Amino acid sequence: MISKTMQDALNAQINLEQASAQLYLAMSAHCEARSFRGFAHWLKVQAGEETAHALKLVDFLLARKGTLDLRPIAAPPTGFGGVIEVFEKTLEHEKGITARINALFEQARSEKDFASEMALQWYVTEQVEEESRVGLIVDHLHAVGDKGGAIWYLDSRLAKRGTT
Ligand code: FEO
Repeated sequence: MISKTMQDALNAQINLEQASAQLYLAMSAHCEARSFRGFAHWLKVQAGEETAHALKLVDFLLARKGTLDLRPIAAPPTGFGGVIEVFEKTLEHEKGITARINALFEQARSEKDFASEMALQWYVTEQVEEESRVGLIVDHLHAVGDKGGAIWYLDSRLAKRGTT
């Protein structure tokens, strides 16, 4: 049985993962509207990954006999600016998620909730990958700038992202 405090914290994280999915879907539509179909595709795949992150936590919570407490999902902002800004905002968002995951991990450890700690290890590792992946795109975008032909090459590269 999971503690009420851990249950509440996991429910909050589930909501945040779903809000991340909404954010990336909105960003994807923003890129699509500007004919950057590769960036749009990458962000849509990312939205799917965030939903998968939420579902993985739901499964864990239910396996621990916790109660799923779904709340309204925050509407994403509108008007993300150019592609560089979109991915800078994505990186900023992921850094925020990393901080939340680390706080959850710390809570699990302080409660001696070893099962939650183990489950959260996956998310700690995932955040390293997420920040690295997005950071690379931000670096490439800074290198080429958002005008000129190179950004379309990057766009075509990101169109190749597969689903996991
Ligand atoms: Fe679920 Fe991108 O963190």
